[in-house]
Order: sequence, then C-alpha cells, then structure tokens
Amino acid sequence: MKIIVTERIAEDGINYLKENGHEVDTRYGISHEELLETIEDYDAIIVRSVTKVNEELLQRASKLKVAGRAGNGIDNIEVPACTKRGIIVVNTPESNIMAAAELAVGHAYAIFRNIPQAHWAGKAQNDFRRSRFNGNELDEKTAGIIGLGRIGSIVATKLKGSNMKVIAYDPYITDEKFKKLGVERCDTLEELLKQSDLISLHTPKTSETYGMIGEEQLKLCKKDVRIVNAARGGLVNEEALYNAIKEGHVAAAALDVLDPEPNYDKKPEDQDYQNKLFELDNVIITPHLGASTAEANYNVGTAVSKLVSDALKGEMVAAV
Ligand code: NAD
Ligand code: MLT
Repeated sequence: MKIIVTERIAEDGINYLKENGHEVDTRYGISHEELLETIEDYDAIIVRSVTKVNEELLQRASKLKVAGRAGNGIDNIEVPACTKRGIIVVNTPESNIMAAAELAVGHAYAIFRNIPQAHWAGKAQNDFRRSRFNGNELDEKTAGIIGLGRIGSIVATKLKGSNMKVIAYDPYITDEKFKKLGVERCDTLEELLKQSDLISLHTPKTSETYGMIGEEQLKLCKKDVRIVNAARGGLVNEEALYNAIKEGHVAAAALDVLDPEPNYDKKPEDQDYQNKLFELDNVIITPHLGASTAEANYNVGTAVSKLVSDALKGEMVAAV
C-alpha cells in the first residue's frame, strides 16, 4: 500500500511501515495545494497537527483508507467526513502526554523567572543586568488548570509538587478524580480566572473551547496573571492576549501553539509566518514543541505506524 507522511515522524515509524511492505513517501512540509494534486495516489496519510485532512482533500482522495494522526489532538482532521467515506482515523492519544505536560510546566517556570529573556539579553545584547529579570516564585501561588484530562492531570500533579495550590475547571470530570488528584474544583471558568496566578490550558480545540479566553475573560483575571497554552492555538484569543499584555494586566504568556500555526517543516528562508505576539518581550513562543522529546517522538511514530499498517491490513484497530 502507498502511504504519504506529510509531517516529520520518527524514522523508526517509517522503517516499521517499510518493513511491513508499504511504499512510503515522506513529503515533510508539503503545502495543502501540492497535497491536493497528489493525494489520489495514496491508500493512507500520516499527519501531525498542521496538515488539514478536510473535505476538500478527501474529495480527491479516491483511494484513501486510513488517516493516521501522529499525536493526540484531531482538530485538523474532519473525522465525520472521513467516516462518511469509510476512511479509518487513528491517533495516539497517550504517546506524548508526559512530554506535553513537562513542556507546560517548563513554560510556567520560564515565564515566572524570565529565563528565555535573560538568556537572550546576555547572548544577543551582552546585557547581564540581572535586575531587569526579577521574577516571582510559583511556591504558594494558585495554578488554574483548564481541562483536567490526561495532560492537565499530570500538570496538576507536577505543580502541586511545586507547592502551588491547584484548582481546575473541567465540567466533564468527576468529583472523584478531583479528589484523587487533590485539586479543587471550580464550577465555572470565572471562578478559576478570578483566583489564578498561573493559568494553564489543556482542553482540546472544539467549538466550545476555541476563544474561551478572550477579552472578557482576561478582564476577570487577577492583575499580573501568567498564562500558558500548550494545548491548541486559539483557545486564548491572540488579539485579546496582545492587548491585555500591552495594557499590563497580564504579566506574561508562554505559547507552544499559535493561531494559525506556522509550517514547522519550512526552512527560515522559505518561511513567511508573522505574528505580532513576537513583538512583546514578555511573551515566549515555542514551535509546537510539546511532543518533541526523543521518548514521545519514538512512541508517537511507532504507535501511529503500527495502527496505520494494521488498519491497512484489515486488522482491528481502535479508531477515533
Ligand atoms: P484529554 O482529552 O485527555 O483532556 C482534555 C480535557 O479537556 C478533558 O478532561 C475534557 O473534559 C476537558 N474539556 C473539554 N472541553 C472543555 C471545556 N469547554 N472546558 C473545560 N474543560 C474541557 O486531552 P489531553 O490528552 O490532555 O490533551 C489536551 C490538549 O493538549 C489537546 O488539545 C491536545 O491536542 C493538546 N496537546 C498538545 C501537545 C503539544 O505538542 N503542545 C501535545 C499533546 C497534546
Ligand atoms: C498532539 O496533539 O499530539 C500535539 O499537538 C503534538 C503534535 O502534533 O506534534
């Protein structure tokens, strides 16, 4: 069977597919337009978060049997449109949760202590005036987790380990789970916003969560709140965040995900991405690095390849 892989996955995963007799084309960074021209040749596609497996693509994907998401969130795949055509969608929801949780906690420390800014000042400007980079401690502050699922729960546990009081808003999680994690339930988002010194988002991107932190919500936050979004671009409205930081209401933000996302496989000379959040010194941005550890890359790459290969062979797989 012929498989196209549109975003970089672990070589072990590619090798697994080849060892199982499949022909694999790695077209990392392929544009949507190029993909539209070529998708009709393929029995399966493997993507990460940037490639859009949407109606427009599916209309041309006459041979497609399987869409594999190398990772967790499936907001870039139109699952009902796949299902309608009998295309199996698989993902690897457990494979990168520790990596994503560790990055979110790293982001929290980075913006409480201005670590990236201080490094850059020394490296790029020969400026070692440490008084510019006074921070705050996480110790005894309140962390508000939005979305207490797989990743949110790990983040909550780690922040409790930093001696933070951890509260969370997740209407879909039982009281037992809150109790087990030692996390205080907020019945409304407003309740969480009003109390948190750090807000960390861990929901999927849905019509309900997209823009859930906008101008109105930011106004409800404590002055000098810090915000981490390592879930999905657009959960925090970027325009509203930009304004709230400019006005000095939000002290800092760390974003691993943007709205829209850049193409993560393009060389700098071919990159045309722009985002005005880069103007702000107290915003730090990483290129969707949540899953980028050797461990998660290996787990995700091998897990998605096995699922796709099994599905192509007609074996039972846990589909989305
Ligand atoms: P999960 O499904 O285990 O947990 C998500 C939680 O969000 C659930 O408990 C759900 O009840 C809750 N939720 C849904 N709608 C909500 C709402 N309106 N308000 C409050 N809570 C709501 O998912 P997960 O595995 O923990 O992943 C969380 C997010 O992290 C996803 O968006 C995923 O795509 C993203 N992610 C990012 C990276 C990265 O590289 N940055 C890596 C892995 C996952
Ligand atoms: C995911 O949802 O698994 C993450 O966003 C990681 C990724 O796609 O690279």
